[in-house]
Amino acid sequence: MPSPPGGDIAHTASSQAASAVRNTPWVSLYAVDDIATAPAEGPFGDGQPTASRRPVAAGPQALAEAWQAADALTAAAGVEIRLLETAAEFEQGVGLMDDAWGNGIELVAPNLMKALRLTDNYVAGAFDGGRMAAFCLAFRSMADPADIHSHILAVESAQLGRGIGTAFKFHQRAWAIERGIAVIEWTFDPLVARNAAFNLVRLGADVDQYLPDLYGQNDDKINRGQPSDRLMARWRLGSSKARAAARGERTVVPDEAAVEWVPVPDDIEALRLADPAAGLEWRLRVRAAFQEAFASQRRVVGYRPGRGYAIEAAS
Ligand SMILES: CC(C)(COP(=O)(O)OP(=O)(O)OC[C@H]1O[C@@H](n2cnc3c(N)ncnc32)[C@H](O)[C@@H]1OP(=O)(O)O)[C@@H](O)C(=O)NCCC(=O)NCCS
Repeated sequence: MPSPPGGDIAHTASSQAASAVRNTPWVSLYAVDDIATAPAEGPFGDGQPTASRRPVAAGPQALAEAWQAADALTAAAGVEIRLLETAAEFEQGVGLMDDAWGNGIELVAPNLMKALRLTDNYVAGAFDGGRMAAFCLAFRSMADPADIHSHILAVESAQLGRGIGTAFKFHQRAWAIERGIAVIEWTFDPLVARNAAFNLVRLGADVDQYLPDLYGQNDDKINRGQPSDRLMARWRLGSSKARAAARGERTVVPDEAAVEWVPVPDDIEALRLADPAAGLEWRLRVRAAFQEAFASQRRVVGYRPGRGYAIEAAS
């Protein structure tokens, strides 16, 4: 692995880094290159100290570009996105989660949202006029001081497909870059084709970890009675893919790529309701494919709507 620029920083004891994180303005913390050239694309999650395992101070230009992209997408979606502060706003967040999963209060209670905001974590709403149309919540990962874990993103069902989810992720990205965050990670159900397209194609995130039955058997309206397997998405905020996504480009799987396709159903949520046994078969088939691929060190190259996940072919 090439050694990262500022490699000595990468080896700084994490407690020192963490206390610097709390006390020092980002842009003066490290004399680091612009985030556009920060080496955030290297191997990740393999136990190696890489440049992504430390806070990254974005240059002013990268930060300005991140906010420009977020602001343009937010305006195009016709919403205003802001951090939440009041009890009434937190209640609206619960309402949004209710709408998406049917059990909002079981997912995150308002007093936890308050605690997360007190500690400068990301609890935000997208507002259309005075109404909240989407809700998002993320917090600092203690596994890596340069990551945040995004736990919830819910767009109101009546507002799906108008760009609010995309605007929200780019707002979260700019907010994170401003705080020296290099990676936003989140989990998603690999069987939900819409989420796969959103994460891998629209945003340019990577997936590199399969988590079988992560939350146990959820009883919400989307997942009822099924194991809650999740893929871990990692969005390397300064990567070429993320920067291209900020310009509106999609990440596509080249025709000539040597890959094996892992298909997913067009609409797993409808299928689970109509035929839970068929939904479970899909779950186990896709689980086996990812587990086998990751066990043999094969990467997920991308996703193609209608075709499925593209995984490096076995050599
Ligand atoms: C996933 C979710 C956040 C997307 O929000 P959204 O506001 O509808 O998304 P956008 O309109 O910004 O669309 C972004 C991308 O998502 C994908 N997408 C959205 N709706 C889709 C659909 N019906 N079918 C296939 N892909 C779809 C597309 O890739 C789209 O990009 P495009 O511009 O290239 O078409 C939203 O579906 C949601 O809240 N779902 C319920 C909660 C959930 O599953 N959260 C987990 C998120 S990982």
